[in-house]
Amino acid sequence: MIFESHAHYDDEAFDADRDELLNSLEDSGIEAVVNVCSTVESIEAVVRLMEKYPFVYGAIGVHPDEVGDMDGQVLEKIRRLLGHPKAVAIGEIGLDYHWNKESHQLQKKWFCEQMEIARQEKKPFIIHSRDAAEDTLQTMKELRAGDMYGGIIHCFSYSVETAREYLNMGLFLGIGGVVTFSNARKLKEVAEYAPLTQLVLETDCPYLSPVPNRGKRNSSLNLPYIAKELANLKGISYDQVVDVTSANAKKLFGL
Ligand code: NI
Repeated sequence: MIFESHAHYDDEAFDADRDELLNSLEDSGIEAVVNVCSTVESIEAVVRLMEKYPFVYGAIGVHPDEVGDMDGQVLEKIRRLLGHPKAVAIGEIGLDYHWNKESHQLQKKWFCEQMEIARQEKKPFIIHSRDAAEDTLQTMKELRAGDMYGGIIHCFSYSVETAREYLNMGLFLGIGGVVTFSNARKLKEVAEYAPLTQLVLETDCPYLSPVPNRGKRNSSLNLPYIAKELANLKGISYDQVVDVTSANAKKLFGL
C-alpha cells in the first residue's frame, strides 16, 4: 500500500467531493495520508481532518508564504497541537524566494522558530524550499537539523549536489508529480541518485498532477504514476518502490 506523505485535502479544491475522495483512497491502495498545514487558517481544518479519518495524519506549521500571519500565540498553538496523537510532524515550513510574498528576513525568523519547536517537541519537520537552495541549506546546517528528529525536503527541486548534502544529514527527499514531466531532467537525476531508503512519495495535491493528468486537480489517486516513474528511473520493481517508501514514511513519522 502507498503512503502519501504530503497532501492538502483542506484546500477548497476538494470542497465538492472531499468525503467521497478520501473514502475511496483505501480501495485504491493508499493506506495513509499526511495532510500538511500551509496557512494559519488551515490549522483547524487539518486538525478536523485528522480527527475524522483514521488514515489521515497531520503536519502542523506555517508555510513561508504565510508567515506574515505568524505571532507568538500561533507558535504556541503549533507546539500544543504537536502533542495531538495524530500530529506526526511540523510543516510545511521553510523558505520560498520564488514568490517572495514575505521578506527573506521574516521567512528565516519563522523558519528557525518553528524548527526550534520541532527540536523541543522531538518531531520531524517537512521543509518547503523553492528558489532558496543556499539559504535553506545554510540555515539547516546552522540549526544542526541533521541531529534533530528527521525530516523531509518536500517537492525536492534542487541539484544532485544539494541532494547529497541533505541525504548526508539523514533526511528524506519528497518525490512528487514533477518527476513524471519530460523536462524534469534535474529531478530525474536526483531520483536515480538518491537511495530508495531516503525517498518518500507525495502529491502536494491539489497541485502538481503527474503525467498523464498534468494540469488537472491532483489527488493521492495519482501516486501510482509517480511510483511507476521512480521504478523506471531506478530500474527496480513498482512494488519495491511502494513498499520501501511506505516503510520510510512510517519509520520517520513513528507509525
Ligand atoms: Ni505543500
